[in-house]
Amino acid sequence: MLVYNAQNRQIRLSPSLLSANFATLGADAQAALAGGGDRLHVDVMDGRFVPNITMGMPVVAALRAHLGAAAYLDCHLMIVEPERYVEAMVQAGANQISVHLEASPHLHRTIQLIRATGAQVGVAINPATPLSAVYDVVELIDTVLLMTVNPGFGGQKYIPQSTAKIRQLREFIDQHQLTTAIQVDGGIALDTLATVAAAGVNDVVVGSAFFFPDRNIPQAVAALQQTLY
Ligand code: DX5
Ligand code: ZN
Repeated sequence: MLVYNAQNRQIRLSPSLLSANFATLGADAQAALAGGGDRLHVDVMDGRFVPNITMGMPVVAALRAHLGAAAYLDCHLMIVEPERYVEAMVQAGANQISVHLEASPHLHRTIQLIRATGAQVGVAINPATPLSAVYDVVELIDTVLLMTVNPGFGGQKYIPQSTAKIRQLREFIDQHQLTTAIQVDGGIALDTLATVAAAGVNDVVVGSAFFFPDRNIPQAVAALQQTLY
């Protein structure tokens, strides 16, 4: 958990396992939770919606078996037709499923499908997707995932136009007295964390800045926290 000192607001830290060492994934996942990660962010990519291919249900199931019931697995589906995999993902152990608005033309139905499994619901939007595209579903979901890079790879640079979007969504959520969380994903590091914190996020996905440069997680988390004071 990070604390944004200016408002004494807690910000959930979601380490992205995309930057873990896949050869020692179980140990890295455990270290991420022990070192200050609140939820594990699992990036599922299909080589179609995004250019990269990563992991799927078998890996989620292996993580669940390894970590036990208490670990929270936040699964970010960067895949076409995500509705086809919702049930299997939840069965494998996902606690939250985030689908991309751009990949799900019947988004409302997909939200209902995720809800029916008992999992929490996230909707992700790409940097070029206008924020207004999610307004009609914000009250139905647990998390809006604002992509702050183009999805597909870790280690990219934060897109500066994202900050205005975060502020605008914060305003919308507060105006409508909603509890939906704002999550940001991509390029969140020492130089950008304070900016997104001030703009009003509730949850930051951090990949490379969490595991790199030397996999000293406590040091990385302390350095991130330091930027918020
Ligand atoms: C990118 C993924 C992110 C990625 C973030 O498509 O959705 O979760 O792991 O990595 P960093 O924090 O390195 O930008
Ligand atoms: Zn992600």
